[in-house]
Amino acid sequence: MSKNIDALNKLLDGRYSCRGFLKDEVPQGTIEAIVRTAQKVPSWCNSQPWQLSICAPDTTKELAKALTEAAKGGMHAPDVAFPERYQGIYKERRSTCGWQLYDAVGVVKGDRDGSFKQMMENYRFFGAPHVAIVSTPKELGAYGVLDCGAFVTAFTLAAQGLGVATIPQAAIAGMCSVVRSMLKIGEDRDILCAISFGYEDKEHPANQFRTTRAELDEVVAWH
Ligand SMILES: Cc1cc2nc3c(=O)[nH]c(=O)nc-3n(C[C@H](O)[C@H](O)[C@H](O)COP(=O)(O)O)c2cc1C
Repeated sequence: MSKNIDALNKLLDGRYSCRGFLKDEVPQGTIEAIVRTAQKVPSWCNSQPWQLSICAPDTTKELAKALTEAAKGGMHAPDVAFPERYQGIYKERRSTCGWQLYDAVGVVKGDRDGSFKQMMENYRFFGAPHVAIVSTPKELGAYGVLDCGAFVTAFTLAAQGLGVATIPQAAIAGMCSVVRSMLKIGEDRDILCAISFGYEDKEHPANQFRTTRAELDEVVAWH
């Protein structure tokens, strides 16, 4: 039993959001194995609401080009509204991980060009050779989104188990009209996020930090 939890912790401890990838393509068989494993998560009524549009390197590059161009004109309305603001502890945690990234890549306070450049890295998928776009049927509402969240996590862990690095990215949902038209995703689906994936560039400055987690008493009310 304890071996199982050790194996799970090993995957969870090894995974992090990778923001610098090597160019090497991931073999089709490996991608299929990741998706098959991730599909084992539970979903309400076993509806399995997730659908993926998975891009090979050429398509990933084309999409990155289109998104980078479109992002210069500002954000579009996402299918599922972004949080209007982060307050209190959520604002604090957001700021902490943001500064961890900026410190790692050398963006100092007030460096608007630097932070803009780092933000734009989202639209080139941090150099990943592949991206999977995750969508859910609109009609399944918040619970479809919830099930897709479980799928996204499992995808990142399955990938980790196969030596593939990942990063989920809601940033691309702010450009969903471009993604929708290029990948022909139906109007009946909400585009939730991307998962960029490939092999980590271990030396990349953006990959040199790790985030932390709250203590149990911050997240559990014992009754
Ligand atoms: C749904 C979701 C959306 C995310 N969107 C972005 C994003 O757009 N850009 C980004 O750089 N990181 C994004 N992240 C990565 C988070 O910042 C990261 O998971 C968090 O800071 C914890 O760090 P870790 O993944 O390295 O453990 C996203 C993560 C999730 C789960």
